[in-house]
Amino acid sequence: MTKERTFIAIKPDGVQRGYVSEIIGRFEKKGFKLVGLKQLIPSKELAQNHYGVHRERPFFGDLVDFISSGPVVAMVWEGKGVILSARKLIGATKPLEAEPGTIRGDLAIDIGRNIIHGSDGEDTAKFEIDLWFNEEELCEWQTSDSKWRSEN
Ligand code: RTP
Ligand code: MG
Repeated sequence: MTKERTFIAIKPDGVQRGYVSEIIGRFEKKGFKLVGLKQLIPSKELAQNHYGVHRERPFFGDLVDFISSGPVVAMVWEGKGVILSARKLIGATKPLEAEPGTIRGDLAIDIGRNIIHGSDGEDTAKFEIDLWFNEEELCEWQTSDSKWRSEN
């Protein structure tokens, strides 16, 4: 059984616009397994840590203010190849450049209102899961149809 996991967050604009079920549905339909889910208003400190790699960028302050401005739906999804596949489902950072069929391509316009975050690699996925979730908040479970989703 694969243990690859990624951190996905529906940003305040995605929550405010009523896209929680739409976004969760896309990951469910693909066949990935939800192993962590909670809604929270992130502290400034959490937002700063999460986007720490962008600390020196000119948009950092606005990004942190935005992420901590309202409810975020934080999730951990599990499955074979889920880190890269989630980035493909999400689409390009600039929604106007994101392909139709992707979440950002279908549902957003502005880079600063691109509705969803996904970890960009193995190391960031581990860092972000540990940052947002305690171990006991993550659920170990088997879907009843797992053998129909992927071969291993
Ligand atoms: P995310 O981390 O949120 O999943 O987005 P990403 O990997 O596609 O893009 P990244 O380069 O990590 O940027 C993080 C978020 O910062 C905002 N941003 N604004 N104004 C700008 O030039 C600019 N560049 C990035 C975006 O909201 C982006 O999602
Ligand atoms: Mg990123």
